[in-house]
Amino acid sequence: MAQQVQGVIARAKGAPVEIATITVPDPGPGEAVVKIQACGVCHTDLHYREGGINDEFPFLLGHEAAGVVESVGDGVSEVAPGDFVILNWRAVCGQCRACRRGRAQYCFNTHNAKQKMTLADGTELSPALGIGAFAEKTLVAAGQCTKVDPAASPAAAGLLGCGVMAGLGAAINTGNVGRGDSVAVIGCGGVGNASVVGARLAGAAKIIAVDIDDKKLATARELGATHTVNSRSTDPIEAVRQLTGGFGADVVIEAVGRPETYEQAFYARDLAGTVVLVGVPTPEMKLELPLLDVFGRGGALKSSWYGDCLPSRDFPMLIDLYLQGRLDLDAFVTETIALDDVEKAFERMHHGDVLRSVVVF
Ligand code: APR
Ligand code: ZN
Ligand code: ZN
Repeated sequence: MAQQVQGVIARAKGAPVEIATITVPDPGPGEAVVKIQACGVCHTDLHYREGGINDEFPFLLGHEAAGVVESVGDGVSEVAPGDFVILNWRAVCGQCRACRRGRAQYCFNTHNAKQKMTLADGTELSPALGIGAFAEKTLVAAGQCTKVDPAASPAAAGLLGCGVMAGLGAAINTGNVGRGDSVAVIGCGGVGNASVVGARLAGAAKIIAVDIDDKKLATARELGATHTVNSRSTDPIEAVRQLTGGFGADVVIEAVGRPETYEQAFYARDLAGTVVLVGVPTPEMKLELPLLDVFGRGGALKSSWYGDCLPSRDFPMLIDLYLQGRLDLDAFVTETIALDDVEKAFERMHHGDVLRSVVVF
């Protein structure tokens, strides 16, 4: 039987979000219905509301979520009812060239649930990032669910579904930070501060946090930054070089998504160092660099998409580290809120007051 639940939708471009009654169909083949326990508020939800992603309104927002599988459709072997899971954006196919080479993060045939959730009048909803978890229950492809230890707090676990995983993965997967490395992180919001945590987890000896906001730098220090640089008052390239014996950092992680910070990241790395780009630019942004610098400095420029994570590999491992007290995910949960508080949480996010607001059910 299809069920009716409450969810947060963006009905039209720029309009405030609203609570609506959502019809969630029974899971079809390969699908699962998940009872959501927690879902973080992310910039991408706001971008959907503002029409910055696509025009497929109305959207069912929310995509950084953890919950319990309620029911599964035919042929589902990944998860079973009662499993505590973290949701991810897309199920991988397991068959394509990338999947068969063990690089499922580049799968060519990712998918979400085939059926649509609807409004009371039958209007089909577009779930944000194929998830739609600002709702008591949501319908996803079973492959979007990764089972993790149920001892974890849902609010902390859900964060691995997006921003925090992107930042952690930028350091531990894409940047491949190693023991003793020097790491600079430019932009210390939820994503960049997760990179600080990832760098510490990987054994970095020096972690330089760069931001224009002293509050964010104070948090970075609590999370493991060994040095902080306010780039409003200090040239971050010079500061990073000075802090690394005149060279530059082994790995520089850019977590803002702007041309000037991309450029800072490029020049703040050591010769042959690695730049990891996890901040997402907008389509019109451009960066001009002398080609001789691109060539002559060697090293690598890497973009990090979703922290190059493999949910089935990374989520259970990171939750285990969290439960052992070695990965402080709770530090990213600035506040827990109710479903009807999402619009206000967008405001607070916009003003840079929070790392993450998390809706708890
Ligand atoms: N130099 C340094 N830091 C900056 C600058 C700048 N010029 N401009 C902004 N910042 C800082 C902000 O002060 C804030 O601490 O960058 C941080 C951005 O953090 P959030 O707004 O919380 O964004 P976050 O969720 O961390 O995402 C950062 O990563 O995945 C992407 O799409 C995401 O592009 C976004 C980026
Ligand atoms: Zn594939
Ligand atoms: Zn997100």
